[in-house]
Amino acid sequence: MPTEERTLKDKRIVLGVSGSIAAYKAVELLRLLQKGGAKVRVVMTKSATRLVSPLTFSTLSRYPAVYSMFSHSPKFEIEHISLSDFAELVLVAPATANIIGKIASGIADDLLTTTVMSVNCPVVLAPAMHSQMWENPIVQQNLSKLREHGFHIIEPEEGELASGGVGKGRLASLEKILDYVTEVLNPLLSLRGVKLLVTAGPTREYIDPVRFISNPSTGLMGFTIAEEALKRGADVTVVSGPTHLAPPKGCKFIKVSSAEEMLSAVLEHFEDADCVIAAAAVSDFKPEVRVGEKIKKTGKELAIRLLPTPDILEELGKRKGGKVLVGFAAETENLLENALKKMEKKNLDLIIANLISQEGYGFGSEELFASMIRRGESPLPPKPFPKRELAKLILAELERLLKKDNP
Ligand SMILES: Cc1cc2nc3c(=O)[nH]c(=O)nc-3n(C[C@H](O)[C@H](O)[C@H](O)COP(=O)(O)O)c2cc1C
Repeated sequence: MPTEERTLKDKRIVLGVSGSIAAYKAVELLRLLQKGGAKVRVVMTKSATRLVSPLTFSTLSRYPAVYSMFSHSPKFEIEHISLSDFAELVLVAPATANIIGKIASGIADDLLTTTVMSVNCPVVLAPAMHSQMWENPIVQQNLSKLREHGFHIIEPEEGELASGGVGKGRLASLEKILDYVTEVLNPLLSLRGVKLLVTAGPTREYIDPVRFISNPSTGLMGFTIAEEALKRGADVTVVSGPTHLAPPKGCKFIKVSSAEEMLSAVLEHFEDADCVIAAAAVSDFKPEVRVGEKIKKTGKELAIRLLPTPDILEELGKRKGGKVLVGFAAETENLLENALKKMEKKNLDLIIANLISQEGYGFGSEELFASMIRRGESPLPPKPFPKRELAKLILAELERLLKKDNP
């Protein structure tokens, strides 16, 4: 769907503002949402009213900005119910650590949390807080729980913080928040009916019950692809190695450990799939023997003979038929040359050449230093790609490849 069809026109948005220093940015956000054509009602927490006057929001939204559960409504409407009837989307921006914790714990002790609890529409949270608060494991656990329950989280950005320090925690840019909200309100459904199989994460090849060969893959790339494909209406199966990330909501999720387990899960679902995106970092080697008991320390050398694991992509390439096959090549040298060879050998339609030796990119990071190579085309030099942006580009390419009349 062309971008101009994705609009905020006449969309009904409840903008929740909580007590972060970034609350002043919500004023501009309100104006931008309205400029896009949305009808916006503002709900504030009590803390937020200490930072920005409700009058500012009321004046701009031409509707009272509300913050009290028990204030008199002249129309005798129960405010949170009328707000939840109104809302096509709730956007909490900025979202404090406190409000994130309350929502994740099912607490509804003010108008904003009660509204969030009573709506049946997408809820988007844009956190903003000091980096130490952001990194607090309790905050991160709360966010994971919310993601599992289908809440949308717009990650904060790195940069200068109000406290004077530098780190992650700044409210995402207003442009990013607007794009995100527009996307959620205008699902593309461009992959509706498409059966997509995604592999993600590392594999583990056990030496003994407590030691294994693996790699630092977190599964983020594959999971992000799956999330974006789900947004576009695809029927998504994810086969994933061990990861701490919550599975993408709405997919069929199959957990595996070794390369062999991944191969058998993938083959089981391959026939049914229209396309496969293999983003897993599969171990190329496994120990010849997996010892049943923990190997004892003896102070002497220990040699472990390694054997090749099955090559999952090559197996799929042999059985490809009319399916679309997309792979990744994680390389430390001769990036484009090696990726082109892999594309040929494994019969792929598209390959993402991923330079993992580039510091700050690749495994565990939110960005790849990569080049997306279409079959038959000369590769472009690699450059940084946020994983979400790359996921969107891969899916756009997939859409093109799935069209029978693709050029
Ligand atoms: C000036 C000021 C700025 C604050 N900024 C933030 C912030 O950016 N993020 C955050 O999580 N809490 C921030 N706090 C703390 C919250 O206001 C506090 O946790 C409050 O209980 C949040 O209430 P609410 O979630 O109901 O709005 C700030 C407090 C003050 C006084």
